[in-house]
Amino acid sequence: MLSFGPNPKNRLYTNLNSYLLFLGYVLGGRLKRDKKDIELFEKALCEKFDTQHAVCVYQCRVGIYLAVKALVKPGQEVILSPYTIADVINMVIFAGGRPVFADVERETCNISAAEVERLINPNTGAVLITHLHGLAAKAHDIKRICDRFNIPMIEDCAQSFGVYEQGKAVGTIGDAGVFSFEMHKNLTTWLGGAVISNRGDVVEKIRAELEGFSYPPLPGITRKVKSGLIHDIAGFPVLFQLLTYPIVRASYLKDIEFVNKKVRRKPQESKPAEHLPEVYKSWYTPFQARLGLSQLNNIDRDIKTRIDNALLYYEKLKDIDELILPPLRTDGSHTYLWFPVQYSNRDELLRFMYSHNRDIAAGHFTSTADSPMFQEFYRDCPNSRKVEKELFYLPTYPRYSRSEVEKNIQVIRQYFHC
Ligand SMILES: Cc1ncc(COP(=O)(O)O)c(C=O)c1O
Repeated sequence: MLSFGPNPKNRLYTNLNSYLLFLGYVLGGRLKRDKKDIELFEKALCEKFDTQHAVCVYQCRVGIYLAVKALVKPGQEVILSPYTIADVINMVIFAGGRPVFADVERETCNISAAEVERLINPNTGAVLITHLHGLAAKAHDIKRICDRFNIPMIEDCAQSFGVYEQGKAVGTIGDAGVFSFEMHKNLTTWLGGAVISNRGDVVEKIRAELEGFSYPPLPGITRKVKSGLIHDIAGFPVLFQLLTYPIVRASYLKDIEFVNKKVRRKPQESKPAEHLPEVYKSWYTPFQARLGLSQLNNIDRDIKTRIDNALLYYEKLKDIDELILPPLRTDGSHTYLWFPVQYSNRDELLRFMYSHNRDIAAGHFTSTADSPMFQEFYRDCPNSRKVEKELFYLPTYPRYSRSEVEKNIQVIRQYFHC
C-alpha cells in the first residue's frame, strides 16, 4: 500500500458503541433522570482506586473548581504549576482562591517540591499538583510538606488515570484527586471527569454544590461528539494517509497558518468572568457513565503498550545529549500518555520530522505564569517558559505500531547525525 505518512499523533478511543450510546441519549435518553449508571461508574472508580468516594463531574476543570471551593477559604492562596491549561487557573480564581505559580522541574515538567515548600505561607489554602503526561509529580514528598503546615493537597490527574506512586494511585495521595475523561485521554467519555477522595466532608460539600447544577444542554456534548467524529474520520488509516496527513504536512512545511491553527490542539477556555460560567454548571450524564464503565477493563492493558513504546524511545534516544527525555520509570509512576521530549531547536526538528513524513506535535500548553490574563499573579517561572518553547510529543498510543516508533527514532537520529 502507498505510504505517505504514519498514523495520526493522537488517536481517539471512540468506537461504534460510543456513537450508538450517544445516539440513544439524543433520542430520548436525556429525558430520563435515572442516575443508576452514574452510581455504578462511581462505585467502579472507588474499587479501582481503593478510595471511599467518587463523584462524576461535567469536566475535570469543574471537579478542580469544586475541590478548591470545598477546601479553600475565599482569598486564600493556591500554589500550583503554571504549566497547565489556562482554565485550571480560572477555576481556582472562580472558586475564590488566588493562584501562586510554583515553577516546574525541567526534566519531569511537574511542579517542584522545593518551590512548593518555599512558597507556603500563613495564607496558603491548598497546594494543587498536576501529574503531567502520565508522570506522577512528587506527590508523597509534597503531601509530607503539606501535612507539616496542615494544608490540603489536591491532585490534578487529568493526564494520569491509572498512574501509581509508591504503590498508591495518584488521586488518592492528597485530599482530593480529579480525573478527566475528555476525548484525548486514555479513558474517554467525550467530556467528563471525576473527583475521588477519602474525605467525607469534602465530598459532602461537592455534592451539595452540585445540587445547584443541571443536566447539560445538548449542544455542548453534541459539539464535542461532532469534533470527535471529524477526528475519527480524518484519522481513519487510509484517509489519513491519502488525504489528512499530506494536507497537515504541507501546511506545516509551508506555514499555512489557516490550516495549522485548525490542527493544533487548543484546550477550550472560559471567557473572562468572575464566577463559574453557566456552561460549567452541568452534570455528568448516565450515557457517559455507561461508556466509561465499558472502558475501565482495558486501561491497564493499554498502559502497558504505552510503556513498552516509551521504553523503546528511551533506549534508542538516551545517548543524544541535546534532548531532555522524560525519566525512565517501570514502577507504574509513568504511563507515558505521550513520550514528551524537550529540545532547544524544537521547531527545526519538527520541520525535519515532517519533511521525512513523520507526524509529531509540539506541546500545546503555555506557561500560564506569563499569560497576560493572569498578570496580577505573575511570577517568574523560567523552567515552565522553557518547557513551553521546547517540548514535543512522540506518540505512544496503543494502536501506534512499533515500526512507526522505530521510524520516529530513526529520523530523529538522522537529524542528529548519529
Ligand atoms: C493537566 C490538565 N488539567 C486539567 C485539564 C482539564 O480537563 P477537562 O477538559 O476534562 O476539563 C486538562 C485537559 O486536557 C489537563 O491536561
